Amino acid sequence: MKFEYGKAYEKYPVEDFTFPDGSRLKVHNIFNQTPEFMKSADLLFVDPPWNVGNLRCFYTKNGQPLEATFEDFYHRVFEVIKEIKPKTAYIEIGKEYLAEFIQETKKLYKYVTFYNSTYYHSSKNLCYVIRGSNRAKKPKLDGLDEENIIGWICQNEDYEIIADPCMGQGLVAFYAHKANKRFVGTEMNPKRLAVARKRVEEKKK
Ligand SMILES: C[S@@+](CC[C@H](N)C(=O)[O-])C[C@H]1O[C@@H](n2cnc3c(N)ncnc32)[C@H](O)[C@@H]1O
Repeated sequence: MKFEYGKAYEKYPVEDFTFPDGSRLKVHNIFNQTPEFMKSADLLFVDPPWNVGNLRCFYTKNGQPLEATFEDFYHRVFEVIKEIKPKTAYIEIGKEYLAEFIQETKKLYKYVTFYNSTYYHSSKNLCYVIRGSNRAKKPKLDGLDEENIIGWICQNEDYEIIADPCMGQGLVAFYAHKANKRFVGTEMNPKRLAVARKRVEEKKK
């Protein structure tokens, strides 16, 4: 089965794309060396795959076999966050790896908290959003859907540039642009990342 995402890639290719305001998207696998431009971000949101099945599914959608374990993968996610060094990082995760992700976030930040959340706006789809920061602040985000959390972060956090290393179809890009802020993002699947460019340019989710 082919995953085409509405063929956005035909009109909105994104191999390495810079928007007029300097926001930038690049097709990139996080196991490779982190592009320098990602390190300009002072805020980060990432919703990585949540377990090995989910990770394999994204590799299949990208026409690639998965060679890494989930542990290799999430350790790399946290290494990338460490390299980008944002003042505040939000990481979305399911229950299965919540404890491990909190532990990893605590290695990077003094203040760590997490929120109950949902995805696709259904109370049946539970997930969590961890917030790590060196600033003691606890925004009230409990119970919000991940999309509303992303919208809140992009609008209300104190930042210049937000990064998302696993950007997918670009909710972070869309909401940062809507808030008149810059974003930088990487994503291994060019067809998914093209949707991010489309959403920003068409100003439509
Ligand atoms: C849950 S989705 C992110 C959804 C995103 N928040 C959005 O708005 O669409 C996770 C993303 O991680 C990407 N991904 C998985 N492994 C990756 C890797 N090794 N390098 C870069 N991206 C990867 C997948 O292709 C997928 O788009």
